[in-house]
Amino acid sequence: MAAIFLVLQSTAQINPYNYHSQKKVTATKGAVVSAHPLASKVGVTILQQGGNAVDAAVATQLALAVVYPGAGNIGGGGFLVAHLNNGKNIAIDYREKAPARASRDMYLDSAGNPQLNLSQDGHLASGVPGTIAGIFASYKYASLPFAKLIQPAIDLAEKGYAITAAEAASLNNLKEEFIQLNSTAPVFVKQQRWKAGDTLIQKDLAKTLERIRDNGQSGFYEGETARLIVDEMHKANGIISYEDLKNYQAKERVADVFDYKGNTIVTMPLPSSGGIILQQMMGMIANRNIAAMKFQTLQSVQLMTEVERRAYADRAEFLGDPDFVKVPVKKLASKDYLAQRMKDYAPSKAGSSAVTKAGIIKESEETTHLSVADNKGNVVSITTTLNGGYGSRTVVSGAGFLLNNEMDDFSVKPGVPNMYGAVGNEKNAIAPGKRMLSSMTPTIVLKNNKPYLVVGTPGGTTIPTSVFQTLVNILEFGMSVEDAVNKPKFHHQWLPDEIRIEKDFDAAVKKQLEAMGYKVVVKGQIGRTEVIQINGKQIIAVGDKRGDDDAEGFAPMP
Ligand code: DON
Repeated sequence: MAAIFLVLQSTAQINPYNYHSQKKVTATKGAVVSAHPLASKVGVTILQQGGNAVDAAVATQLALAVVYPGAGNIGGGGFLVAHLNNGKNIAIDYREKAPARASRDMYLDSAGNPQLNLSQDGHLASGVPGTIAGIFASYKYASLPFAKLIQPAIDLAEKGYAITAAEAASLNNLKEEFIQLNSTAPVFVKQQRWKAGDTLIQKDLAKTLERIRDNGQSGFYEGETARLIVDEMHKANGIISYEDLKNYQAKERVADVFDYKGNTIVTMPLPSSGGIILQQMMGMIANRNIAAMKFQTLQSVQLMTEVERRAYADRAEFLGDPDFVKVPVKKLASKDYLAQRMKDYAPSKAGSSAVTKAGIIKESEETTHLSVADNKGNVVSITTTLNGGYGSRTVVSGAGFLLNNEMDDFSVKPGVPNMYGAVGNEKNAIAPGKRMLSSMTPTIVLKNNKPYLVVGTPGGTTIPTSVFQTLVNILEFGMSVEDAVNKPKFHHQWLPDEIRIEKDFDAAVKKQLEAMGYKVVVKGQIGRTEVIQINGKQIIAVGDKRGDDDAEGFAPMP
């Protein structure tokens, strides 16, 4: 009882021991949709206390770091895209960086063979975390005291919360890895099997969050937390140093903004590949009447597959951290170039990645998304990640949080696929202080300069194509938000040269694609898309059916 009371103090009506997932809400004063009911509820209580969408997004993100440890994080990084009621578009880059001691070939053995266990598992897989720097960079657009925004997360960590069946299953699955990749068994390891409803208490994490509450950004990047991170690095082969932590800075970048048939799309620029690929894909379908082809017919899937192939070939060839390498962004998104890319497109024939390579330019499971809208005209779209599920699976001993395995998003060797099958070259090679290329695509659509859609998803390389499909579903096929989120998704990423589909994808269309010459493979779920749609005074939020995702509203309508 005492525990419930304490959590209630910071989060109004939330009972962390008894809650369920609500998939859709229609509200008038604001909404939050995220991967976990408790995190969405935390966000809405902040709106109810007078906070704006940025306040709610900060609080939701911090709560996710506690209640959704597989992807919610303070030991990873992410991107925030927002549209504020003064008309300003914001893009905050808090992607992890390679530590100063990182080097181009650090994941190759002496014969030059990639050792992907090192870029994916344990201490050496971690980039310098960016999330807390990103939260403080976004906080300048917030309005409530920071202590108010972080307290729900502290309470949830300190007093615990009941885990879901999905959380129990993943903690059970990873038990051996948690033991193997940590010198002290973290709280995620339990003698008996976890089951739904068990309480997860994270005392060390609560103390870390308190240091952040009391000392701001330096509560993470300096002092006791930094000491615990560096000590943890020394327990194995880690290389993150005090200087790496102290030097880390989030970057405010210029949002990627483009027009699609009168809608203004606001999305993340590099070092995410997501925004530019989305712009390319939307650009390549813009002058074709895809609406007439209809949702997931042979024609529309074939067209979307071929534009996906072309965009991902360009990703592998041209994209990397713009602070380190030159990327011809303008050219890649230009009408002429995209028309050129589609010159060899044949509507009735399967393309081939052996034939269609990157364009020619001569000029110099686990991530998580949250979408927030308030009633003041502000919207926020955040995708944040540890990379793989539970990141490196290494917890900073004494500090209670998981570190990312984001180094695997670099191209460890030209042409060697990372854990999402993405290939790259020198543009995305490892260098000290460089940010690894991402696919995360937090996106906002404006209509007449007013927020209309807030969209994003996890899913590695499937992120840009899931956002692409969601936008096409709504803007072209006229689908409801629920259908746009929950109907089956598909994906093509140039290499491997195959169309990946979800198992409920139309069987007849699958056969037709195969008859045309495509390789089609059924491979698990694609993404966990969280969407908010604003129609005048009505705010509709939908959480993906694929997980515990949950939509909560401020002043919900019956
Ligand atoms: O930044 C990226 O593109 C990846 N690290 C995202 C990983 C991800 O989405 C995993 N989720 N299922």
